[in-house]
Amino acid sequence: MKIHTVLPALALLAALPAQAQDIKVGAILPYSGVYASIGEEITNAMAMAFEEAGNAVNGRALKIIRADTETKPNVAAAKARELVTSDNVDFLVGPVASSEAMAIRDFVHQSKIPLVMPNAGANVLTGEKCSPYIVRVGFSNDQFVRPTGKWLFDKGVKSAFLLAPDYAAGRELMGGFKKSFTAAGGKIVGEEYSPFGQTSDFGPYLAKVKDAKPDAVFVFYAGSEAINFIKQAADFQLAKSVKITGAAWTVSPLFLPAQGEAAAGFLGSLNYVPALDNPANKAFQAKYQERHKRVASEFGAAGYESGRLIVEALKRTQGATKDKKAVIEAMHKVEMNGPRGPVKIDPATNNVIQNIYMVEARKGAGGKVDLAVVDTIANVKDDVNGCAMSW
Ligand code: BEZ
Repeated sequence: MKIHTVLPALALLAALPAQAQDIKVGAILPYSGVYASIGEEITNAMAMAFEEAGNAVNGRALKIIRADTETKPNVAAAKARELVTSDNVDFLVGPVASSEAMAIRDFVHQSKIPLVMPNAGANVLTGEKCSPYIVRVGFSNDQFVRPTGKWLFDKGVKSAFLLAPDYAAGRELMGGFKKSFTAAGGKIVGEEYSPFGQTSDFGPYLAKVKDAKPDAVFVFYAGSEAINFIKQAADFQLAKSVKITGAAWTVSPLFLPAQGEAAAGFLGSLNYVPALDNPANKAFQAKYQERHKRVASEFGAAGYESGRLIVEALKRTQGATKDKKAVIEAMHKVEMNGPRGPVKIDPATNNVIQNIYMVEARKGAGGKVDLAVVDTIANVKDDVNGCAMSW
């Protein structure tokens, strides 16, 4: 008897086209730890991009499965494995920290599940350790700071002190800046690396910066560390003697509401600001602000564009996900004119080609601090840097 009821059900399943299955996107992002707010914003904005596509491509529903990396490389590695082997995801999107991305690189490459990276700038992932399955929508650390050293030197900064968290991104961002700043003629007068995710008192670092008497401190922090650093630098009145510059995630619109006036005067580089005057950005901000009652930052813009890249690639494959090479090659054909401006993926490295904006945190009416673009370095593209793609 049972056979009669099971068989028609099985026959029905077999008759269903594979296309009807959900397209599962594993959001491998921090929802706790130092970068928790970044993970949330990336997810919100990616969900918005999927929603604009009707949450489906070719009749296949787009489903986001969240996995909390806790901003920890070992947790990220375990969660990536779980998303691929238990949840059978078609895509991975994340992580935020360079160290997390390094921890999942080999697994992603071997499992051949496309990883779309909205953040995590670890240089080698689109250089020596590139993979055809790793596509970077965010940035490489070097791409972000390479134009900045000469730019600041030309603006009168002749000596700098470097300060960043002690992990891959902090080291790479400072290294990239140092290279371009010293090549332009600038002098590094000191550098310090604070324990990542464990530093809440920046007093000893601020004292060292002040004592070294540089023209500028070049700094990178993000998440709760960025909020603490900026507030403490203001209490310490560092800006009275030293210009505060750096990778401008340090004053991201995600952290500005908590930093307030303390952030004013910061000068640095970023790949997006909410004020960018283009129609895609205006529509993106209007929708995000209506939904989340706050301004979207560069993390949101990259999450949104990661979602858009997936949708546009899937449209080209008619919703098919099995042939991973076809999916990635479809991504190479997508040219977006999104909130950030023109964005495309370089097939030689799978790194994004994008504008880098020199920005300043300025106090406006009522004391509110916003980021203003003071210069645009268009279409910044990394060299191949040892990347040899092999499928
Ligand atoms: C990184 O670890 O690559 C990173 C984290 C937050 C902001 C920017 C870069």
